[in-house]
Amino acid sequence: MLTETATPTEPAFALDNFQIEDEDLPEFRELRFEKINQLDIDHPGANDKEYRARRDYIASCSKKFRETGVITDVDYNAREQRVWRYVAEELEELQQKYASPFYLRAKKNLGISTDHIPQLSEMNRRLKELTGFRLAPIEGLVETRGFLSWLSYRVMLCTQYIRHHSHPAYTPEPDIVHEAIGHIPMFTNPAFADFSQFIGHGARIATDEQLEQLGRLYWFTVEFGLVEHEGDIKAYGAGLLSSFGELEHAFSDEVERRPFDLETVINHEYTYSDMQPILYVVPSYAELKEVTRKYIESFNS
Ligand SMILES: [Fe+2]
Repeated sequence: MLTETATPTEPAFALDNFQIEDEDLPEFRELRFEKINQLDIDHPGANDKEYRARRDYIASCSKKFRETGVITDVDYNAREQRVWRYVAEELEELQQKYASPFYLRAKKNLGISTDHIPQLSEMNRRLKELTGFRLAPIEGLVETRGFLSWLSYRVMLCTQYIRHHSHPAYTPEPDIVHEAIGHIPMFTNPAFADFSQFIGHGARIATDEQLEQLGRLYWFTVEFGLVEHEGDIKAYGAGLLSSFGELEHAFSDEVERRPFDLETVINHEYTYSDMQPILYVVPSYAELKEVTRKYIESFNS
């Protein structure tokens, strides 16, 4: 999901600046990316001309954002809406059983439903009101430091296209299902939003080795995190919440669910392409935020 590229480190800055105003944001046209990966050759839609044309159109919507700073709504077609409905309905059923109650409420509050693809513009408006988090469209996969650094401005880069209709249960790259059903609802949680911002701060000042460790923290929390809830365990990670296979697997006997320990997590080398045999359970989002704050503070010493 993330690739490694080094960029120069930055000077120290305030870790607790949670109020990011529009004027504090860097110019979006200056988004620094080594490259943006789109539609690899092994993608299910790589040889589908019609799909490629749709991806080009949606990429053009996303790119406009960097010139104007305004999110362009995508005019999704009937086939794309069908893919969404199928995946969203299947996930909804599983999530009722396994997802964190906070997440389920947040999804509802953001108006994310099974019947149509939500627009980033609407979710962005609501998020900004709730936790000051923002969404910025991007047309593909971005390298780790570039991607994570934007979290320090409480900005999440989000794709707008949807996966290929031949494999609705699978996508080798993030898509609007992964963003809207996986990631976006959790940013309405103040502690989770602040924790995400700490990860962003970390990415801006991390050495290459620290960045690798930060990538693992992101993986086992933002993507594959589990949380305690009233004596039970629930999912809050986007990689789990946006995949039926991953979500069911996370709660099966094949997975060891361990209590979260920062030192263990940042040193846990994982295989991206396999289902995860070990997952980590945080006691609460507030605790995750505090542990991460201390960890990022240690980057400067
Ligand atoms: Fe993700």
